[in-house]
Amino acid sequence: MIKIFKLKNIISIKDFEREDVEYILDEAAKLEDIAQSKEVSEELKGKLLGLMFFEPSTRTKMSFETAIKRLGGDGIGFENSGSSSVSKGESIADTAKMFEGYCDALVIRHELEGVSKFISDIVDVPVINAGDGAGQHPTQTLLDLYTIKKEIGKIDDLKIALIGDLKYGRTVHSLSNALGLFKNIKIYLVSPPELRMPQEILHDLNKTNVEYVVADNISEVIDDVNVLYVTRIQKERFIDIEDYLKIKGAYIINKKMLEGKDLIVMHPLPRIDEIDTDVDDTKYNKYFVQAANAVPVRMAILKTLIKNNPK
Ligand code: NCD
Repeated sequence: MIKIFKLKNIISIKDFEREDVEYILDEAAKLEDIAQSKEVSEELKGKLLGLMFFEPSTRTKMSFETAIKRLGGDGIGFENSGSSSVSKGESIADTAKMFEGYCDALVIRHELEGVSKFISDIVDVPVINAGDGAGQHPTQTLLDLYTIKKEIGKIDDLKIALIGDLKYGRTVHSLSNALGLFKNIKIYLVSPPELRMPQEILHDLNKTNVEYVVADNISEVIDDVNVLYVTRIQKERFIDIEDYLKIKGAYIINKKMLEGKDLIVMHPLPRIDEIDTDVDDTKYNKYFVQAANAVPVRMAILKTLIKNNPK
């Protein structure tokens, strides 16, 4: 059976079915060789990717740029609204329309939820959400799932602890939704009471077969998980900085806690102090591999969307 990828835009992981996730992960595996080598393929030769980053980014922007270049295309864009005409008062809609004129697909990061969806409704080229406020970060989730599959061999039957800022962290929102597509999943939601997973996501999980348990401390769950998925406290989304300072540093993983455990440690990065650097040179560290996996996964996304939706 020939598989097809139905989505034109990647806005929310909630738009995905399991077969859509598997399609991208399979394509990514096929592109690993080019992603890892110094070779460049010609699959997207002459194609231009528009990178509209209204919020800071290192990995996401760089890996999208690497991905389009490895496929023979190129990327243009900006990394904060201060360096675009939005700072002169141009609307996001006009900026996006202009990018549409130049590019074959657009990647958007913005501090407001819903901006990528809004842009996808007004342009004809594929739109990819690279993080919208505390909303979703679907391409991060695809590379997280790719990493889990590669490191553990499967995604079904997984026990995973999501740790840290579950309230504002968009990576854990998307990942929770995606895990709802798999079988026999148990999620431990480990956070301070102030930063619990939003009700909306719990409501989504209630509609799936995922079993979830809310916990206050890592020690309660560490013996029962295959993956510790650690996140940064999203300082920039706090209204009162005092609230941030109270919580800062509350959930820290170190090498001693991990000794003798059969698990991997993941983190979407950037890390502040949630994972002690003494974990970096242990077998538990999969966060740098995870960041590198962004390239084949984003290559798969770009190849699929741009080829399926020629201009
Ligand atoms: C994450 C993000 O931007 O949501 N970073 C990333 O894309 N890898 C996580 C974060 O900023 O904490």
